[in-house]
Amino acid sequence: VKNDKLRAMSNSSIEDVDDMITLQELHEGSLFHNLYMRYEKDLIYTYTGNILVSVNPYKSLPLYTIDLVREYKGAAFGELPPHIFAIANETLSCLRKTGENQCVVISGESGAGKTESTKVILHYLASATQKTGESDSNLVQDQILDASPILEAFGNAKTVRNDNSSRFGKFMEIQFSFDETIKGGEIYKLHYMFIIIIKQSPNERNYHIFYHLLAGATDSEKAKWYLTQPEDYHYLNQSDCYKVQDMDDAQCYKITKDAMKTLKFGEKIDVIMQILASVLNLGNINFVVNEEEESENAIIKSDEYLNIVAELLGIDKENLRSSLTTRTTVTRGEKFVTPLTVEQAVDSRDALAKALYGRMFSHIVKYINDTVKSDENLSFIGVLDIFGFEDFDVNSFEQFSINYANERLQYFFNHHIFKLEQEEYDREEINWKTIEFVDNQACIDMISKKPLGLIFLLDEESNFPKATDKTLLEKFHSQYSKHPFYVKPKTLSSTFGIKHYAGVVTYTIDGFLEKNKDTLRADLMELMQGSSVELVSSLFDLSEEFTDYVGTVKGNDLLSATKKMANSSSSSLNTLKGELILTLSQCNPFFIRCIKPNKEKKPKLVDRELVMSQLRYSGMLETIRIRSAGYTIRILYNDFISRYKICVNSSDVSFLKEKEAVATILKEVNASKEHYQCGKTKVFMKTELENKLESLREKKLSIFICKIQSVIRMFLTRKRYIHRKVLISKLEECKLQ
Ligand SMILES: Nc1ncnc2c1ncn2[C@@H]1O[C@H](COP(=O)(O)OP(=O)(O)OP(=O)(O)O)[C@@H](O)[C@H]1O
Ligand SMILES: [Mg+2]
Repeated sequence: VKNDKLRAMSNSSIEDVDDMITLQELHEGSLFHNLYMRYEKDLIYTYTGNILVSVNPYKSLPLYTIDLVREYKGAAFGELPPHIFAIANETLSCLRKTGENQCVVISGESGAGKTESTKVILHYLASATQKTGESDSNLVQDQILDASPILEAFGNAKTVRNDNSSRFGKFMEIQFSFDETIKGGEIYKLHYMFIIIIKQSPNERNYHIFYHLLAGATDSEKAKWYLTQPEDYHYLNQSDCYKVQDMDDAQCYKITKDAMKTLKFGEKIDVIMQILASVLNLGNINFVVNEEEESENAIIKSDEYLNIVAELLGIDKENLRSSLTTRTTVTRGEKFVTPLTVEQAVDSRDALAKALYGRMFSHIVKYINDTVKSDENLSFIGVLDIFGFEDFDVNSFEQFSINYANERLQYFFNHHIFKLEQEEYDREEINWKTIEFVDNQACIDMISKKPLGLIFLLDEESNFPKATDKTLLEKFHSQYSKHPFYVKPKTLSSTFGIKHYAGVVTYTIDGFLEKNKDTLRADLMELMQGSSVELVSSLFDLSEEFTDYVGTVKGNDLLSATKKMANSSSSSLNTLKGELILTLSQCNPFFIRCIKPNKEKKPKLVDRELVMSQLRYSGMLETIRIRSAGYTIRILYNDFISRYKICVNSSDVSFLKEKEAVATILKEVNASKEHYQCGKTKVFMKTELENKLESLREKKLSIFICKIQSVIRMFLTRKRYIHRKVLISKLEECKLQ
């Protein structure tokens, strides 16, 4: 940093503050410094207005005791130190006051603490509204709380970034009756990362439930489901990582099953485990080239696993064989059977595994909802746990989807913060029309506006049989190369860039088309529909097919619109996100920004760059940007006077009334009317005016310093002079004697 860019730290930054809005300096550096000082003292929560910033402590802190629940329950927002309980309590009081739906949007990158925060909020809501002696509501509460271990077992996995990483986003609604009793709940899940099921990278595991099952099942269960140990399964042994620190898989198996019992899964539990076993065994079916035929056609290497899978899934062995090694299509009533290559056969095996697992997960969520959802139309508090913005060395369709979701959330966040900003201006009777608000609508439109938004081009291309990722990229380029939010690479490459609110992200087009196709081949669908295991056939039942998406849609019209669009993931992604934003926008929102302090998952360690980049991505700076579009500095009249009265030459303003004193100071410094407004209790200023005042103050101070110095010098000189004079006169007296 060059010297001329360096500025002395404001006095307000020397001590840490509970609410960063009170920092007189609001920029990345001061935010970081404040969070850092607090984190050192285990103060992981900090406010920025009513946004809660939470820094993952990576150790257990005594922050969530029942005594603290009681304390926060009885306190108004801001009365006690920042805490996630205060946010949860505020949602309850707002619900009580207005009857309006509330929502808490929790965001942050992988491992930042979103899921833990979600659980803390659910626990707070349950404990704070607990009424003694009502066994019924307790059951619903227990069921809602027990949904978490089930969702985590089936939806979370160990990744390099988080040992318990959620591979799906979720919105959880807790429904309350008028007397604040929890009456029900509903879970909406957002896009799901199926890729993990077929492939893991080093140090990563597949979904927890597979390891729980293999560690916790009894010998007879294992024999029944043809299960051995994780090392034996292709879907589990690719990364050579089988254990998660501090996770007892056998114990978790028990916890998951108990939770499923509370949620009345009953006999389904065993069938679900059987489906999991079939997925594992399916992954072990291998293919080789049919050498006898001297062709490229695939055949199954050995029937061992084919037999097992056919039995577990209740389907005919030969039908399974032909569905995995050939493709059957029907054109104008005629059936065509095309043999598959080994690579294609592997793809169809993996597609079936993904479909089985994905549909089973959706079914579990739907089943939980059916059990805990209240039929009444009740007000709710919703908690959204969603992936944060991502920018890796290589970004693909997953990052594109996540970042698009975040772009929309950012829009929602901006608008909300902007609204709060307006409210403060209204309260202070400040004319706010002068604020210009720059939003990210154009970027969102480029991605999702009909008919030419990127995701519509993607869908269109997915329907062309001859399309490839390359032709898709050409379409993107030709449509958007001149768009201000699009970056066409200068050199030939298979990438495109988007200027997101958090920075430019370069996406690699490879795999976009394939990942966008969410459909299972018709012949595989048909095979599964014929299963003698009722749950399996119902998973592939066409009338149930879209429950996944329908779950997020409330009205019937939208429902049919969603059904039509649901055959590829990007358009359903759009509907989903659209719906979610719609739901959110009808709620009173609260925001929690989770920050990951280091990549090592260690306590007491803060990686400055990592934190700074999250502050940037999380939109904290956006809050500042919106504030700086208006009046960045707002100082109480009293503080303003004591700081700047020095700038006045003519008179002493201390005797004037507050408002007059402020007016005198502003007049004296010739402040331009565009640079400030006076509210009821505060002066609102633009940075230009603050700079001017500060430099005047400094000049005055240096004049004063000179004056003080000269007075002191005079005093000292005079003192010396008098002293000498006394000495001289004494000497003269001596001489005379
Ligand atoms: N408040 C907390 N107190 C103690 N430890 C925490 C807290 N929040 C998070 N952690 C630790 O950090 C880990 C990761 O947190 P969590 O699973 O909530 O992250 P996440 O943001 O949901 O990540 P992902 O996006 O990968 O799902 C937890 O398993 C836990 O060890
Ligand atoms: Mg999570």
